Amino acid sequence: MKIGIIGAGFVGLSMGTVLASKGHEVVLIDIDKAKVEKINSGEAPFYEPGLDELLRKHAGKNLKASTGYEALKNCEIIFICVGTPSKQDGSVDLSYVKDACEKLAEILKETGYVLIVIKSTVVPTSTEKEFIPILEKSGKKAGKDFGVCMNPEFLKEGTAIRDFLEQDRIVIGALDEKSGNMLERFYRENFPSSPIVRVDLRTAEMIKYASNAFLATKISFINEIGNICKKLNIDVYKVVEGMKYDPRIGGHFLNAGIGFGGSCLPKDVRALIKFAEKLGEEPKLLKSVIEINEKQPERLIEIAKKRVGELKGRKVAVLGLAFKSGTSDLRETRALPLITKLLEEGAEVIVYDPVAKLPDELNGSVKIANSLKEAVEEAEIIKIATDWEHFRELEKMKECLEGKIIFEGRRIFDEKPYGLEIEGICW
Ligand code: UDX
Repeated sequence: MKIGIIGAGFVGLSMGTVLASKGHEVVLIDIDKAKVEKINSGEAPFYEPGLDELLRKHAGKNLKASTGYEALKNCEIIFICVGTPSKQDGSVDLSYVKDACEKLAEILKETGYVLIVIKSTVVPTSTEKEFIPILEKSGKKAGKDFGVCMNPEFLKEGTAIRDFLEQDRIVIGALDEKSGNMLERFYRENFPSSPIVRVDLRTAEMIKYASNAFLATKISFINEIGNICKKLNIDVYKVVEGMKYDPRIGGHFLNAGIGFGGSCLPKDVRALIKFAEKLGEEPKLLKSVIEINEKQPERLIEIAKKRVGELKGRKVAVLGLAFKSGTSDLRETRALPLITKLLEEGAEVIVYDPVAKLPDELNGSVKIANSLKEAVEEAEIIKIATDWEHFRELEKMKECLEGKIIFEGRRIFDEKPYGLEIEGICW
């Protein structure tokens, strides 16, 4: 099948390479020329495990990237995977999706029936009220001359390829029966073991927000419980151990720590809050989820101050910049507010991350270490901001850690290694 994908970000590119590996002819469209060139030369424009390998195999063969929408002609299905960032007030910015629809409308003028699938995260009713009217500027009628579906993605950075190959569910929101059936057939043929949920467009849009809001709520919930546990000298991870066997609770996504970051959870919860407010609802729970999350990095500073006194002039190593392990992505990383606050406190900050690069705004204000050892050798206080497995190596660096304290913002050690001084953010 000839498949078009608009937006070669982490969702579009991961999905495109997987579909190419299934033998489809994939056309990726992106406005970023440098990115398009990189993809065509078989190189991944960002770090995502497994992506490089698939690109090397398929780029220039059955996967081609382009900046021009003409390449989408003759596609049977076109997925829109462009970003939906936050506006200043936290509400969702749909301009990239609208822009893609404007350009697609031009293509629609000259094509036969094609199925257009919105994969970008958009607030309920956006497809019906915002995108279909733009697509119909082509003079063609949605549900008759072209199909429309809303098919949210649930990929996690760092495991996007595997997540797409083994989707835990496929949600298909359809404008009409024909569109929904076409997308369902496509998924059944390519991913036969994934359950499919068929709904209407606005329900599919809501499923995505409700899923991410629920995940974020779990994290803020366990962080709040953890903050209480800390006062009582209780290990919140042991509390979860005792909760998880209840099938109504389960043990996933209850890792307490410095909070959630990334390109989706914070942005989507904020967008849902704004959207609910517009509808005249006050989303009290969701507001607390964000509030708890924003305060967690400060807690890592507070516990350190309580233990070692003022941080002014002290050398502090921050281990981890990425918003989680397995990615170089810094978006909404909790490491950033942590570093900013440390600098405000007058600390000298040394950072180390095995993959992620220092964001421009911190250039010149912090020192970068080239290795874990270098970071901890120089510092007297160590703070862990990302759950990189690599940080377990600290266990082997006891000589450089003598007399120093490690403050865990992410749980690295379930059992404190003998000879290391470790204190958890909420355990
Ligand atoms: C998330 C959703 O999981 C995914 O379904 C959606 O498509 C995109 O957003 P992602 O942003 O890749 O995926 O990261 P995720 O693994 O969900 O982690 C988000 C943040 O929460 C990270 O900062 C992570 O460290 C943190 N987290 C996660 C916790 O603090 N505790 C947990 O128990 C789990």
